[in-house]
Amino acid sequence: AGAPLDATKLKVQNHSTPSQPRANDELVFGKTFTDHMLTIEWTKQNGWGTPEIKPYGNLSLDPAACVFHYAFELFEGLKAYRSRDDKITMFRPDKNMERMNKSAARICLPTFDSDELIALMGKLIEQDKHLVPQGEGYSLYVRPTMIGTTAALGVGTPDRALLYVITSPVGPYFKSGFKAVKLLATDNATRAWPGGVGDKKLGANYAPCILPQLKAAEKGYQQNLWLFGPEKYITEVGTMNVFFVLKDNATGKKELVTAPLDGTILEGVTRDSILTLARENLDPKEWEVNERYLSINEVAERARKGELVEAFGAGTAAVVSPIKEIGWQDENIDVPLQPGKQAGKLTEQIANWIADIQYGRQPHGNWSRV
Ligand code: COI
Repeated sequence: AGAPLDATKLKVQNHSTPSQPRANDELVFGKTFTDHMLTIEWTKQNGWGTPEIKPYGNLSLDPAACVFHYAFELFEGLKAYRSRDDKITMFRPDKNMERMNKSAARICLPTFDSDELIALMGKLIEQDKHLVPQGEGYSLYVRPTMIGTTAALGVGTPDRALLYVITSPVGPYFKSGFKAVKLLATDNATRAWPGGVGDKKLGANYAPCILPQLKAAEKGYQQNLWLFGPEKYITEVGTMNVFFVLKDNATGKKELVTAPLDGTILEGVTRDSILTLARENLDPKEWEVNERYLSINEVAERARKGELVEAFGAGTAAVVSPIKEIGWQDENIDVPLQPGKQAGKLTEQIANWIADIQYGRQPHGNWSRV
């Protein structure tokens, strides 16, 4: 019902004083934004309104807006990269749009035509293209967001919504290349559960994870390794998907493992990219690539046998984040790193495969969209 999202209706209002790009070493993740933002209002009555690119600035919302009370909010995160020949490409935006529509449908916010929003994000990036940083590890983080704006305290389907996109020039998550992190395996707080919304990118999934993270930090760990259920299955790390590399001492065969998409796991674009690249590039005589349940007890057991080879988190923000240690009950599970390095061999290889695609050195199907 109502008008579909239509990129050709775009109206542009230019910023009066365009800003100068910051030096790369001043970029902190998500702290500074570009000059413009994209906004599109939706009403149940009329559907999607006029997309507008306008100067970045505050929103004005009724204090009763349902986003503030009942968490009608969802977001996405994707990156645009500047290649050495100065092309700017979004990495797999179709995957983010697919997920954004699934998130919207789950909390009764409106869905939209993915290609239209990809086109509009392209216009927004183009508008501020002088602020897209150059250099390995640098990119423009794009944050599409949708909120319910119905001004009423009755709990029901929003009849108004706002879709907006802001962009932030960002540097490498870890300033000096990789920095392996220490995790606390956490079973006293649960990130997601069957029948819940852990596979959707809803803001409501994130706020409850900060307190457990603070508790982990008090004990000297940077992130939680989220466990689920009596089996203590490993699900995610912090705000990322997680991968383990195991080796079978008897057969010599190696295995790359991540949790299966059973509804409790965020359907990460980086996760999907890693699985695809691993299946394409790793020799099946030496490797198995599995989406399967892996418990913390299995990891502890395999570590004792010397069969735990590597572990890393995977997400859009950090891309690949190596893990060096996992606190579990009273023991510390050590994850090997290459001598003198902050990552395992496959972890490093995977990070390079992805960077080569993202920075346009190695095309991969339609993963990069100019
Ligand atoms: C990630 O890319 O790891 C994310 O989940 C985005 C984060 C800033 C919430």
